Amino acid sequence: MAINSPEGTRDLLPDEAKFWAHFRDTAFGIFARYGYQPIETPLFEQTDLFVRGIGQATDVVSKEMFTAISGENLRRWVEEGKAPKAKSRLSLRPEGTAGVVRAVVQHDLVPQGAAPAKLMYAGPMFRAERPQKGRQRQFNQVGVECLGAEEPTIDAEAIIMLMRFYEKVGIPRDSMRLLLNSMGCEQCRPAYRELVRAYMDELCDTCMTRAEVNPLRAFDCKNPQCAAIMADAPKITDHLCDECREHYDAVKVLLDGAGVVYEEDYKLVRGLDYYTRTVFEVQVDNGMGAQNAIGGGGRYDKLAEEVGGRPTPGLGFALGFERCVLALEAAGVEFPRAQKCDLFVACVDDSVRARAFALVQECRDAGFTTEMDHQKRSLKSQFKLADKLDAAFVVVMGPDELAAGQVKARNMQTHEEHLVDL
Ligand code: HAM
Repeated sequence: MAINSPEGTRDLLPDEAKFWAHFRDTAFGIFARYGYQPIETPLFEQTDLFVRGIGQATDVVSKEMFTAISGENLRRWVEEGKAPKAKSRLSLRPEGTAGVVRAVVQHDLVPQGAAPAKLMYAGPMFRAERPQKGRQRQFNQVGVECLGAEEPTIDAEAIIMLMRFYEKVGIPRDSMRLLLNSMGCEQCRPAYRELVRAYMDELCDTCMTRAEVNPLRAFDCKNPQCAAIMADAPKITDHLCDECREHYDAVKVLLDGAGVVYEEDYKLVRGLDYYTRTVFEVQVDNGMGAQNAIGGGGRYDKLAEEVGGRPTPGLGFALGFERCVLALEAAGVEFPRAQKCDLFVACVDDSVRARAFALVQECRDAGFTTEMDHQKRSLKSQFKLADKLDAAFVVVMGPDELAAGQVKARNMQTHEEHLVDL
């Protein structure tokens, strides 16, 4: 039986792989203008990093991590009962923030008093979720993280940059909703959390179980009864401390000044536990199914300390490539086709094949996308292939022309033919 790709994964075939490269380059092009520089971190990290960084109580950590173990460690575990040491417990990254913050701390990228480190990344993330439309087990994200600055200008410029990118890549502005909230800080959130816990009653079992560890998750519950009850729950924005209120107000003033339209949503709590203050999410309804967030992020002023660094405020976001593709398809956006062929070199017979092969290399070295037949097709079939490849010109190499140092070049659009010197 043939082996297919694992459940919840997708192959990016050439057209889509090409679009992914364009998507990433467009994002990096825009983000670079805001001072962001690329960073690459490993696809797996010590499991502890995600447990401490993202939070043990989150779905991402408690249910969705792919944990990896080397063959040798697995053997020792099974045969000798020796569980791997913490350092050897590894997990595929479910998101990029924890790894980037770990790298910033490890390499001291924000020495005291230095300018903030602005970093951008793109690549696959892994979450063992139940696959459905817009929800995969391996998916691609483009993200940014800015460490070392607390000012609301960082929050606002990141949100502005994110919206600029969506528009640049072709997602119509009126199909997107930008939601904004503040999660408060360690001064004001504990008291608010208690208020919500005390308010929670008659919610589903999952919400009631979570109430102990993180009652705010109840705002995320899809159960209609929970949603109805939580609609009247105390709002975080009514319980922010003065500093958080000022910070949140300043972000809004900056967004208003930049003409960025947003909706305040006190129910927006996000699924990762590291957030403090500003959180935001961009949602699209058309063509998306239940998974309608195409990107999101926020501030995480305590995360660096959580993973062993000195206090370093941070803010970032990530956007999901596959969900953006769904949003673009729903908006009827055409994707660029796979690379066009400039030249196709056709052989009249086998005697010219070696010279044709050399000509193909010369044309490629000169910067033209060039192809030839590799299956000994007839001249007619070579023309058919050139058509299929969308070749702009076919260069026909025959023994007689070659003896005169020439080839015949046909413009495939106008069908004009000319003899040209090799
Ligand atoms: P997130 O909201 O978990 O945030 O993921 C960001 C985006 O990744 C989502 O909005 C969605 O488009 C995409 N995504 C997430 N899970 C899946 C999935 N299973 N299948 C397809 N797409 C998915 C983060 O990951 C944070 N690290 C963002 C951040 C950066 N916050 C601060 N800095």
